[in-house]
Amino acid sequence: MGSGEGREVKIFDITLRDGSQSKVATRIRLEDLLKIAEKLASTGIYGAETWGGATFDVCVRFLREDPWGRARKLKAAMPGIKQMMLIRGQNLVAYSNFPDDVVVKFVRAAARNGIDVFRIFDALDDVRNHYMVIKAVKEVDKIAEGAVCYTISPVHTIETFVSKARQLEDMGVHQIAIKDMAGLIDPQTAFELVTSLKKAVDVPIHLHTHDNCGMGMMSVLKAVEAGCDMIDSVLSPFSGGTGHPCTESLVFSLERFGYRTGCDLAKLTEAAEEAKKIRSLYTEFEAPYSGVDCRMLVTQIPGGVMSNLSAQLKQQNALDRIDEIIDEIPRVREDLGWIPLVTPTSQIVVSQATFNVLLGRYKIIANHTANLLTGMYGDTPAPVNKELQQRVLKGQKPITVRPAELLQPMWPELEKKFPGLSDEEILIHAIFPHEAPGYFAARKEQETKKAQTSARGA
Ligand code: CO
Repeated sequence: MGSGEGREVKIFDITLRDGSQSKVATRIRLEDLLKIAEKLASTGIYGAETWGGATFDVCVRFLREDPWGRARKLKAAMPGIKQMMLIRGQNLVAYSNFPDDVVVKFVRAAARNGIDVFRIFDALDDVRNHYMVIKAVKEVDKIAEGAVCYTISPVHTIETFVSKARQLEDMGVHQIAIKDMAGLIDPQTAFELVTSLKKAVDVPIHLHTHDNCGMGMMSVLKAVEAGCDMIDSVLSPFSGGTGHPCTESLVFSLERFGYRTGCDLAKLTEAAEEAKKIRSLYTEFEAPYSGVDCRMLVTQIPGGVMSNLSAQLKQQNALDRIDEIIDEIPRVREDLGWIPLVTPTSQIVVSQATFNVLLGRYKIIANHTANLLTGMYGDTPAPVNKELQQRVLKGQKPITVRPAELLQPMWPELEKKFPGLSDEEILIHAIFPHEAPGYFAARKEQETKKAQTSARGA
């Protein structure tokens, strides 16, 4: 037996959520996801990430597909596999904080519709924004996974990540995720970080990384060697580059080392063949380039952020200013307390950096930037620029309480406004108020069409 000595490593296949999000802009429809899910069901994987992140938004906004039905049907297709979602702390699946009562309703509905594992993160890594979700998840007896966002900055060290993990463990999470959303973690850091986490906390450690810089598989292997308990990966047709390390090669290699994954390689290969067919149906949503791109090792700006930035600048006819904006991004990050670049902070930092370059530094302070400076989103990893903060506070005091304390309960009013609707339907209105009317109108139209077709068929 190899160095794995029979130790178990749990595999979470994340093709259906982050895989689809990273390669084809989350556009895969439920009927196609189900074809992959049916194959994944018997592969022996421990978990599958299927929901949350951008899926709820894209279902409502573009696909006009019931997000709740998606969770239910995928769970039914893979009953023996833990179904995981990514939840943005108090932001749920949107871009700003919701009051506690909406958070609790959302978690209960997600659990009811088949979510077993909630991976909870906050863009500022302020654990007070994890608090209510963790509490709600524990109340419904599901698995709360607290995520620490991995980022590189002068104020982030192994110790700061470990201290966040300890705080999350104190809040009662069942497991800790290292969320390396940009694929920046190198094998040595992965080894050191997991080693330190294993010493500091008692709960299992779960690594999520991308392969943007080509380091994904090396980092996964070093993390496993350091004792990492759970790994995220995707089926081969979705792997690599902006995607993730590959499930089949990971399973094959870990087994060769003597670790146990419980996975059946032949079955995984069948699932991968299905995934290959499905990806080819969505080529119109492919990014022009989704392979390995090592510029990030120098700029530390995630690939997704770069592609959004160039698309925006193209629209504004300002693509020639991109290098200046790339230089400005770390300055803005420093002014905003070295926040990680993840939804929604990546968008906030990039917009402000763009304003600074095109219009002059802080000639305009965007609303979201101002909210970050006042403390409305929570505590930043380092203090924000005091001068800028004074400018937006205009004599007021910064916010120091848990941000959601400032929000009034919304549920009683929502129930009044939408009588007769299920909690699931009300939540769609609450979370995406602008898109919901169009969504419900489109759903109604779909149902009428379906009824007409079946009446004709009868
Ligand atoms: Co990711």
